[in-house]
Amino acid sequence: MKSLYFAAILLLVSSGVSGSSLKKTADRVFERAVVQFTALDARVSPDKMPITFEKGKVKDGKLNDWTSGFFPGSLWLVYEYTGNADILEMAKRQTAKLDGIIGMHTHHDIGFQVNSSFGNGYRLTGNPAYLEMMKAGAEKLSTRFSPVVGCTRSWNPGKRWNFPVIIDNMMNLEILAEVSRLTGEGKYLEIARIHANTTLKNHFRPDASTWHVVAYDEETGAVLKKQTSQGFSDESTWSRGESWALYGFTMMYRETKDPAYLEQARKVAAYLIPMLPKDGVPEWDFNAPGTRHAFDMNAVGAPKASDYKWRPGDPVLRDSSAGAIIASALAELSTFTTGKESKRYRKTALRIVRTLASPEYLAEPGENGNFLLKHGVTNLHKWSGVDIPLTYADYYFLEAIQRLLKLEN
Ligand code: GLY
Repeated sequence: MKSLYFAAILLLVSSGVSGSSLKKTADRVFERAVVQFTALDARVSPDKMPITFEKGKVKDGKLNDWTSGFFPGSLWLVYEYTGNADILEMAKRQTAKLDGIIGMHTHHDIGFQVNSSFGNGYRLTGNPAYLEMMKAGAEKLSTRFSPVVGCTRSWNPGKRWNFPVIIDNMMNLEILAEVSRLTGEGKYLEIARIHANTTLKNHFRPDASTWHVVAYDEETGAVLKKQTSQGFSDESTWSRGESWALYGFTMMYRETKDPAYLEQARKVAAYLIPMLPKDGVPEWDFNAPGTRHAFDMNAVGAPKASDYKWRPGDPVLRDSSAGAIIASALAELSTFTTGKESKRYRKTALRIVRTLASPEYLAEPGENGNFLLKHGVTNLHKWSGVDIPLTYADYYFLEAIQRLLKLEN
């Protein structure tokens, strides 16, 4: 009798009862998103976009900020799931605020900005004006490409680096690939491939962990430095950077079917999954003091102990945004792999999503400045944006849930 009972449970689980519980989670999260984002939409000024909520105030960013596409993007994702007509109007209005961003652009994140806003808008409505913005975004980003270096430049020349490329930049390749796919103009995908190949060669340590910043010599293409900007130290692994690598190489495999990109995404997953805590939401840096793989304060490139605010005994901060990005990337990577490996990716993604959807991370209506997720970290190294909501955490969380749900159908 007992064994019959367990067999029945097993059958129910494998036939999708676990799925229906994900559907319930999704319904609850997207319902919450409608409430939170309707309020957030009403409190944001017409020439700004919401980034976070700090010290009791919603922090807005300029339309040129790298994060500006995520609020419209989240609205598109909520519209996609709920079909809510008011949210559709908000998505259109918030997206339209970005109409002028191409002209004001000075950094590489045009990919993030345009793809999450206009890209989702185009995918869901087919509005040709949105495609025009995507084309203009890809063209603008392509002007930052150096054939000598084999990368698009991330940040403009500064005191520390002349031609810095950050691992995050893998994410900006998506707009290049999409525009090539949608228009048949191959030059953008070619740039994306060259950038990904250079990154594959220079941005990874042998264990597939990443350096955050690789600085190049613009004249020769030589690698000058491998350092960090937002991680704990030059040799540590900043968890959001590692998440961008996982997502970026998975996406490049989707767009090209080049097995080298799939192989790299799998190597990153093999490094990353064991680094996650039990509940799946990563610490802000895998080697930060207090973590299981902590470096000491004398590590190369670590902040001066006197400047570093974290002290032994303080909680080690998690980054919900890194968790959301990993969940979304693993959901997609599970579709490019089979058997146990695929199941492992999907299970890990589900574990992260369930934790993020719990009261520990998911804000109650009206809380958290009307963002969804709590406990993100922008830059703990500089102690700016610590333990706060982040607009991109919300975006990738919503995307991860939708991707996981599609796997059940
Ligand atoms: N691309 C900036 C960040 O991930 O914080």
